[in-house]
Amino acid sequence: MILPIYAYGHPILRKETSDIDNNYPNLQELIANMWETMYYTHGMGIAAPQIGLAIRLFVVDTLQLKSDEEEEEKATAEYVKQVFINPEIIDESGDEWPYEEGCLSIPNIRGKVTRPSQVRIVYYDENFVKHDKIYDGMTARVIQHEYDHIEGTLFTDHLTGLKKQLVSRKLQQISRGELRPRYKMVFAGQK
Ligand code: CO
Repeated sequence: MILPIYAYGHPILRKETSDIDNNYPNLQELIANMWETMYYTHGMGIAAPQIGLAIRLFVVDTLQLKSDEEEEEKATAEYVKQVFINPEIIDESGDEWPYEEGCLSIPNIRGKVTRPSQVRIVYYDENFVKHDKIYDGMTARVIQHEYDHIEGTLFTDHLTGLKKQLVSRKLQQISRGELRPRYKMVFAGQK
């Protein structure tokens, strides 16, 4: 089932999130719906707050990039399709690099965010098996972006100076629901 995406300005995106356990109701169905919604909206990842749930869960599929970018990326670059439950980033390292990010909750806005190139993350998969892994490149980037979501942070929070000023008006428009997105959204003030 394709779920509506909660838009910038909706308080759920800033709410503190909770860990879940394997008794969480209909978890496998929820994960299936998150994948379906992510592919429908052409995302590389989606986090639970974006579909209205204040829980520590996100999904990432950078395998989608493989055909486009495998020429440019080093052969060692790791792409994943992975569910992240109760994740904790325990280290970020490597060179900081800028990339134009976008977000399903913030349509029509992109902005350059600088992040460390490598991330070490401990998480549970959809079968509640624990993993402790290091990712880099685009996979690390998407993980950092989705992890920010469950910490109540949006990529636009990282923008500075002139770029921040340039997007602020657009962000206000999204907050007010003055936008016709190409997929179903829930705006601030809506349930
Ligand atoms: Co996002």
